[in-house]
Amino acid sequence: MHESEATPVLIVDDEEHLRITAGQTLELAGYRPQTPSNAEAALAALSADYPGVLVSDIRMPGMDGLALLREVRRRDPDLPVILITGHGDISTAVEAMREGAWDFLEKPFAGERLTDVVRRAVEKRRLSLENRRLKAELDAQRAAPGPRIIGRTPAMQQLSAMLQRVSQVEADVLLFGETGVGKDLVARALHERSARSGHPFVAINCGAMPESIIESELFGHEKGAFTGAVERRIGKFEYANGGSVFLDEIESMPLALQVRLLRVLQERSIERLGSNQSVALDIRIIAATKTDLKLAAERGEFREDLYYRLNVVTVPIPPLRERREDLPLLFQHFAVVAANRSGLEAPPLDAAGVSVLMAHDWPGNVRELRNLAERFVLLGATYDYRLERLVEGGDSGSGEMTLPQQVELFEKSLISQSLANHGGRVNEVCEHLGLPRKTCYDKLKKYDLRAEDYRLRHAGD
Ligand SMILES: Nc1ncnc2c1ncn2[C@@H]1O[C@H](COP(=O)(O)OP(=O)(O)OP(=O)(O)O)[C@@H](O)[C@H]1O
Ligand SMILES: [Mg+2]
Repeated sequence: MHESEATPVLIVDDEEHLRITAGQTLELAGYRPQTPSNAEAALAALSADYPGVLVSDIRMPGMDGLALLREVRRRDPDLPVILITGHGDISTAVEAMREGAWDFLEKPFAGERLTDVVRRAVEKRRLSLENRRLKAELDAQRAAPGPRIIGRTPAMQQLSAMLQRVSQVEADVLLFGETGVGKDLVARALHERSARSGHPFVAINCGAMPESIIESELFGHEKGAFTGAVERRIGKFEYANGGSVFLDEIESMPLALQVRLLRVLQERSIERLGSNQSVALDIRIIAATKTDLKLAAERGEFREDLYYRLNVVTVPIPPLRERREDLPLLFQHFAVVAANRSGLEAPPLDAAGVSVLMAHDWPGNVRELRNLAERFVLLGATYDYRLERLVEGGDSGSGEMTLPQQVELFEKSLISQSLANHGGRVNEVCEHLGLPRKTCYDKLKKYDLRAEDYRLRHAGD
């Protein structure tokens, strides 16, 4: 499989002379020319996801270039087809353009012109295959129940393994992470993947509710418990029976209520306001916080006993800047979702776009990325878009990173993606990236990427 490292290029022409010279030119430029003499043979050589591009003469006996173009586009509309035109082919060329030919080469053409056109077409092909692969990967991730948590960096694989374990046990859980990292999403996933999934998932934002309301919201009340309590009301805890209660922004729960919450956690029962009859509860509490609760407890802003009670199972969700290799995949996901919703097409993410993503620090984490991807889809078609202009704050933040740093980050992300694709099989990664083994291993070491981390996922699930 040695020769397969070079990108193949199909050159179809009935003239042997042209096949030979064009083939030599491309071989010198580092491609692997394939030179069938007719369209039928060319079609036979086209595999699904053919990694290269196709160059074809228009006038050929039998199936001509135009018919070949049509058939290729029918099989794979993303495969660039370059047509070779002779004198007097103008009208055919116009038609070919309409049919979606990628470019033209007018006979006679210089070798340089050929390699130039092929190089651009190959780059385009590489991008569409990469995008296709990302899409396939996203489809594959659709399998787990509940919302999809996208990401395959070791950090996210760890999170996913942890969720798997935690969802199967009864413990209360504390989710800890910055704004926009996915606490809400993880809480829902935890519920959906647990035995409680057939019962309610009740979310309460402790920061958004006035203290006077939150108590009766959570615990419910009896008729006449306070002025205005004209009827008995079931609280959220009771309503969630059998299911999960998500206490978001637990750090902003008033201290007085924290005492009552602690009792719920310990005794698994509640009393409605205005009643001293206790109601048994079968709920799991999933709490979420952005702040360091230990520190808050030390400052007296959060009850220490509640902190210790909640801290038994803590699931940290890493900020996006600590899992940058997931950026292209996440971006692609949000772009596809936005495109589907708006009926627009998601512009492909090119290498420059990827490095913009890599260079940004993402203080708003995944939410910020999602917003960016949406703007990219909505504005991409009308603007001559440049991703860096869309990133919050205008300038991409690349000022904080030197060019070599950005290049390294990009390289690391490519290798990490390849490792994930090939399940940690380094030989395949070397081949896929066209790297000699030694170089490949050196780079793994340099970026502290461990093949085992990428195998875990298959063994663990
Ligand atoms: N790994 C992920 N895969 C797919 N979507 C994600 C992922 N992480 C976050 N999201 C999406 O990003 C957005 C923000 O996530 P979410 O609302 O869960 O964050 P949060 O931590 O609850 O934020 P906040 O602290 O501001 O409440 C949501 O649209 C969510 O679906
Ligand atoms: Mg949230």
